[in-house]
Amino acid sequence: MKILITAGPTYERIDPVRFIGNYSSGKMGFAIAEACLNAGHEVVLIAGPVQLTLTHPNLTRIDVENSQQMYDQVMTHFPKCDGAIFCAAVADFTPETVADKKIKRENDDLIIRLKPTHDIAAAAGNIKKEKQFMVGFALETDQEEQHALDKMRRKRLDFIVLNSLKDKDACFGYDTNKVTIYKTTGEKISFPLKTKREVANDILNEIYKITNQ
Ligand code: C5P
Repeated sequence: MKILITAGPTYERIDPVRFIGNYSSGKMGFAIAEACLNAGHEVVLIAGPVQLTLTHPNLTRIDVENSQQMYDQVMTHFPKCDGAIFCAAVADFTPETVADKKIKRENDDLIIRLKPTHDIAAAAGNIKKEKQFMVGFALETDQEEQHALDKMRRKRLDFIVLNSLKDKDACFGYDTNKVTIYKTTGEKISFPLKTKREVANDILNEIYKITNQ
């Protein structure tokens, strides 16, 4: 298969030296890319700013900085793929205007107006062909299950992988993760704490159940 993967954070520029970002390391997305490559698949990896390397003859890596660039690349490449795994922590808001010079300190409050970004997974869901699969991630601080299920439906995902901030050693920056998978079929699978590499293989196995490989 040819699989599109988004990974890492996005940086939304405020001025030439500042941005709004998040703590995503990209490790989970890169682990999934590696698992897919090791299993013999072709991967288009669209990565935000991360400190990670990955080389493989079947890998096309596209580095982007912000959510608009990630959206443009996903819209270009998704139609040519068999499915996508949306692992990136995309900013939900971006500054309405980017200052062309460094913003100077003043005594008054600084107000930066933000506008919503594209929901990349939802946009891909809108152009998805029936045979394409889509997997998303959710990171919640409250009402985890309800929010994850809502997202799965709204973004037209086949399944969603929930990681909780409550779990020690899981999530941002760690090499381990503890996830629960919710499927459109109503099935729920809770996995124990594992390495991100093992979680990546669990996700790939769930994808095979959809694609009948
Ligand atoms: O809505 P929320 O950001 O919690 O949804 C998380 C899922 O949606 C992840 O799979 C993430 O990669 C994807 N997403 C996206 N574009 C956004 C926001 C989230 O693709 N702007």
